[in-house]
Amino acid sequence: MRACKVTEKIYALHADIETEDLFEGIWPIPDGVSLNSYLVKGETSCALIDLVRDWCKAPDELCKQLASIDVAIEDVNYLILNHMEPDHTGWLAEFKKLNPKVVIVATAKALELVKSFYKIEENLRAVKTGDTLDLGGIRLVFEEAPNLHWPETMVTYEPESGTLFSCDAFGSFGKLTNRIFDDEYYSEDLKNFEDETLRYYANIVASFGIFVKRAIEKLSKLDIKIVAPSHGLIWREKPSVIINRYLKYANYMDGPREKEVCVVWGSMYGNTRDGLEYVLKGLEDEHVPYTMFRVPNEDVSFVLAEAYRCEGIIMAMPTYEYKMFPPMGYVIDIFERKHIWNRKALRIGSYGWVGGAQKDYDNRIAPLKWEHVEPLEWAGQPDESTGKLLRERGRELARRVKG
Ligand code: FEO
Repeated sequence: MRACKVTEKIYALHADIETEDLFEGIWPIPDGVSLNSYLVKGETSCALIDLVRDWCKAPDELCKQLASIDVAIEDVNYLILNHMEPDHTGWLAEFKKLNPKVVIVATAKALELVKSFYKIEENLRAVKTGDTLDLGGIRLVFEEAPNLHWPETMVTYEPESGTLFSCDAFGSFGKLTNRIFDDEYYSEDLKNFEDETLRYYANIVASFGIFVKRAIEKLSKLDIKIVAPSHGLIWREKPSVIINRYLKYANYMDGPREKEVCVVWGSMYGNTRDGLEYVLKGLEDEHVPYTMFRVPNEDVSFVLAEAYRCEGIIMAMPTYEYKMFPPMGYVIDIFERKHIWNRKALRIGSYGWVGGAQKDYDNRIAPLKWEHVEPLEWAGQPDESTGKLLRERGRELARRVKG
């Protein structure tokens, strides 16, 4: 692939990562992910914004795309690192060997990481909010954006074209192929990106929602015409779409959320599954939509994305060795880390010889401060009277979700 012109002086370079490896070692990327970098060409010097890691030949792709615009690694005068996570910096030591004179530009906190991660001590330039870099006929402005998504983060802005290089912020999972701009996709493809943006946000950014809101407020002072993140689409036709989408996601943390229910269930021999059927009928009675995820069969990455946007959650699982069905413990741990707080919830489940799941669940769920409908457990198969109670629990949850 060739580098793509974003403006007369800005080029986008990207490597599509398609792998069974997990992003951050945790999250599946069945539709891939792109690592985007940007080359800004001035009259006197040029800057590369954000790098790649040595993953699925991304450095080769970067060099090839630079070559397509007659730039070699050693021609790059400045390497701007908006964020130090190794998906954007993993190839830094090799890059520095190929271009020892390059000046690395980042926040002071990021430069500490350059030293500790990559043992690079020379040609480092610390920048802070309002600092600029003149490349000759084009100027870059830096804005610190702490915790977007780690403390050292900044964004870079090019005022002439209104291009915001936002790194992780406004990013998405999903590969790009040879179409990198929002206006190059039909609406059904954009819907796929929307789903993958939510999953990316819930998986990667959700813990930092308060900082996303702060950053969007700060950035609203800029005249942003193009959003150029380091994962996913470049938004040049409708940049407000991705900015507003991120704002909506950040607001999910405290609400409002969608009036729907995320159903997370696990079952050993089908008794909990049978009981859940009655609860689902209760949701249907009240016309509240739901989406189901069986664990551990479905990855928590997808569960998290749905739980993040839904007001209601059902946790259906049996007792296993006096405690919860084990995969639910991991789901709750991830929910706590990613701030799935203050939901309307219902927990149900069967037991065989002896119970214990509810007590274990109550202890583990407490930090999330969920408002629960009265839980229901039953021995073995749910009988008709249990079924009636479960259906009523489903209705009650649905009514609370509707508010
Ligand atoms: Fe894409 Fe936080 O790295």
